[in-house]
Amino acid sequence: MQIEEIEIRNYRVFRHVRIRSVPRLCVLVGANGTGKSTLFDVFSFLKDALSMNVGKAIARRGGYRELASREHEEDPIELTLRFRMEIAGHSRMITYQLQIGLDASLRKPVVMREVLRYKRGSHGRPFHFLDFSNGSGYAITNEEDFNRPDEELDRDEQALDAPDILAIKGLGQFERFKAASAFRAMIENWHISDFHVSDARPSQEDGVAEHLSTRGDNLALVANHLYENHPECFARVLDAMHRRVPGVSIVEPEQTIDGRLVLRFQDGSFRDPFIARHVSDGTIRMFAYLVLLNDPQPYPLLAVEEPENQLYPELLPELAEEFRAYAQRGGQVFLSTHSPDFLNALTLDEIFCLRKENGFTTIRRASDSENLRALYDAGDLPGYLWKQRLFEGLN
Ligand SMILES: Nc1ncnc2c1ncn2[C@@H]1O[C@H](COP(=O)(O)OP(=O)(O)OP(=O)(O)O)[C@@H](O)[C@H]1O
Ligand SMILES: [Mg+2]
Repeated sequence: MQIEEIEIRNYRVFRHVRIRSVPRLCVLVGANGTGKSTLFDVFSFLKDALSMNVGKAIARRGGYRELASREHEEDPIELTLRFRMEIAGHSRMITYQLQIGLDASLRKPVVMREVLRYKRGSHGRPFHFLDFSNGSGYAITNEEDFNRPDEELDRDEQALDAPDILAIKGLGQFERFKAASAFRAMIENWHISDFHVSDARPSQEDGVAEHLSTRGDNLALVANHLYENHPECFARVLDAMHRRVPGVSIVEPEQTIDGRLVLRFQDGSFRDPFIARHVSDGTIRMFAYLVLLNDPQPYPLLAVEEPENQLYPELLPELAEEFRAYAQRGGQVFLSTHSPDFLNALTLDEIFCLRKENGFTTIRRASDSENLRALYDAGDLPGYLWKQRLFEGLN
């Protein structure tokens, strides 16, 4: 499943933005305060709205009036995602639309409209398989019955417990609501990284973790899981560490006498290894990226801010390729960057430029500029073009 299009209205600095044909690897550039983190926060918002409810997701972000675009606090916030998935043997473009507003009498945020729709055939208008407003609506229970005409499909009318609960939260649990449950499962498995080197260093209580957590605090456990269950993946991680970080020849998870798990980094020049607590920030970070990117089961969406932080610039092109390989294995990747070296490893199709004017941001794909395309085709690298401020004409 891949996100094909993102449209955002009235969410902080995004009064209205639309990103079409979202690539598998999508990298955001733009000055400070143009909305790169805000775009990632839209993903976190949907995840929070699903795991809690819309009211709590908004409260966590300072309340509706803070979250809605400045001077448009009375307008609804709208998020629309288009994604592809296979249903009944055909790849279909599915649209999920969420409109949130302040209820006039309650003065509380409510889901004004939530729709999931796709075309049932090659003709006709998209059919609404789920359609809820202010806490009630319907879902189609036999959506895969493609032989029946629209009007013969069964509608299951439902009322939600509260008007700020997402319908996909409840319905998504039932297999028969195919698109809703697939969409819900996708959001639940989104990984929006908030990696902290200091969290990744300490030893870990012995336990099991298959995938790196948002803050990276289970790094030792995940490394141990790879080491024991996917030795070929672990070997790739080691090989890359060995080539990239001078002096690091072996990294190994090791159990301490009190039953904890610690990462040991062996420097070829010394007999005794260093434990994670005493190796450099960049070493831990590179190891964490490698563990994350060599996960045999990629997250459906991975978002990482400024992956270049703390890394030696020469390592960035290869890291960019690893993010791309991860995306091609099935995990769509969103990154932000301020690094020309990182951009140099990308194609113009993968780069999106954010620019703020009169308080609000526009987003354009680098390859939409004829000028940039011509220069790129003539051999100029995106990072250099960006540094020469040639992206500025884009928006
Ligand atoms: N309700 C709102 N309406 C309009 N703008 C807002 C609203 N809330 C926050 N902003 C603005 O949105 C921007 C948020 O920027 P964000 O943190 O996403 O930037 P960034 O591109 O990640 O920057 P950096 O490179 O510094 O990390 C800030 O400029 C802030 O002033
Ligand atoms: Mg930011």
